[in-house]
Amino acid sequence: MSAITNLTRTWLTHSVKPFLFTNEYDQVLPYEDCENLGLYIHIPFCESICNFCPYCKTLYSEKLCNRYLDALLEEIHRVGCQTAEKKTVTSLYFGGGTPALVVDRIREIIEAVREHFIITEGIGLELHPDNVRVPVLQMLQAAGVTKISIGIQSFQEKFQQILGRKPVELDVMAAALQAVSFETVSMDFIFALPGQNFADLRTDIDTAFANGANHIAIYPFIDFTFTRSPVRALPKKQKRKLLDDITRYCLDQGYVRNSIWTFAKEEKAGYSSMTRDNFLGFGCSATTLLKEQFKINTFSVEAYCERVQSGKLPTSLTIRFTRRQRMVYYLFWTAYSTRVDAVDFERFFGVPLKRMYGTALLLARAFRFVTYQDGIYRMTLKGAFYYHYYENFYTLAYIDKMWGIMRREDFPEQIRL
Ligand SMILES: C[S@@+](CC[C@H](N)C(=O)[O-])C[C@H]1O[C@@H](n2cnc3c(N)ncnc32)[C@H](O)[C@@H]1O
Ligand code: SF4
Repeated sequence: MSAITNLTRTWLTHSVKPFLFTNEYDQVLPYEDCENLGLYIHIPFCESICNFCPYCKTLYSEKLCNRYLDALLEEIHRVGCQTAEKKTVTSLYFGGGTPALVVDRIREIIEAVREHFIITEGIGLELHPDNVRVPVLQMLQAAGVTKISIGIQSFQEKFQQILGRKPVELDVMAAALQAVSFETVSMDFIFALPGQNFADLRTDIDTAFANGANHIAIYPFIDFTFTRSPVRALPKKQKRKLLDDITRYCLDQGYVRNSIWTFAKEEKAGYSSMTRDNFLGFGCSATTLLKEQFKINTFSVEAYCERVQSGKLPTSLTIRFTRRQRMVYYLFWTAYSTRVDAVDFERFFGVPLKRMYGTALLLARAFRFVTYQDGIYRMTLKGAFYYHYYENFYTLAYIDKMWGIMRREDFPEQIRL
């Protein structure tokens, strides 16, 4: 598996140099001149822990949570103060864990962010289905949240059972969504679970759109090595058939595919913290991607609080990119939106995409992974599947390894990928 990712990395970066992350980091982050900058805030608390979930999270406790949120506000102010004027950013996303658990402090956090940043495209936040209740939604709306994403996973009891989650209370949730509206209501599903077929997924998609969602995200089940889930995803062939069937069904219904895994009922509905050129991340495990570096905060809630309270940034690891490495990063995340615009690439790097990746793009077109029109490379159905397939390798070779280490060590000396 790592042979595939190593080969691709060597080919696309024109170098055998690995991605090297070290614990040497900047106290001042160079984001002032970054265009298309997004913000991300991580809230690592959950009411109960799902054994398949790879994210940085811990059981909710009021005391720990308040300590964490105080440190989070400090980190936001420390980074936000680093520019002379308020910085314009595209969006702010709250992820977790379960950010809706701290609904009573969301307004305070957003106000802290707004002291330093001007948000132009709205604020998104993740909820567990149990959080989808009128008072919670009203508080989120009043705080300025414009997009919500709900972790449904499946509307069917048998798949919730496989995942160790309880059934979703559909009527209660739908009534709350009808009472309080948001620009985007997204619902998350997991596919390729044992025994799952297209009819199961079609029911999930239809139920979502009939009960308040205008956007859905359908993720393939990923079996991370460090989680304790006994569930094994369906084999490649069945997974591909499912992904193709889901895509065709959604496109036939007139839904817009706005990333590999997401479909929107209306053009205005979107939910993605990933497809930004640059982003700043706050909170434990949050990542920051800038022009020349990528950094990741410590995964430990305790170590995060201590670091911030000692006047420093909670950075655990940083990679300083070579130009080619940054290009690969850019292309990988931009391709997630299923399209790459040659003009945007040239604006970002100051060199034509064709000059840097002419052969790779010719091959991609010859294999019908992408089509090309008016400067835009669009992924075909086949291309989207292979991107998905490659992303699976990437997730298991890179993210799995890195997160596995970060869960054990607060500040590892270095990681080579
Ligand atoms: C932070 S959770 C969503 C909010 C909330 N904590 C919840 O569980 O409802 C983010 C999403 O990641 C997805 N996810 C988690 N573990 C996954 C795995 N092993 N494979 C694929 N998707 C996964 C789930 O769809 C989940 O809704
Ligand atoms: S899936 Fe959601 S509720 Fe479950 S552990 Fe992960 S973040 Fe928490």
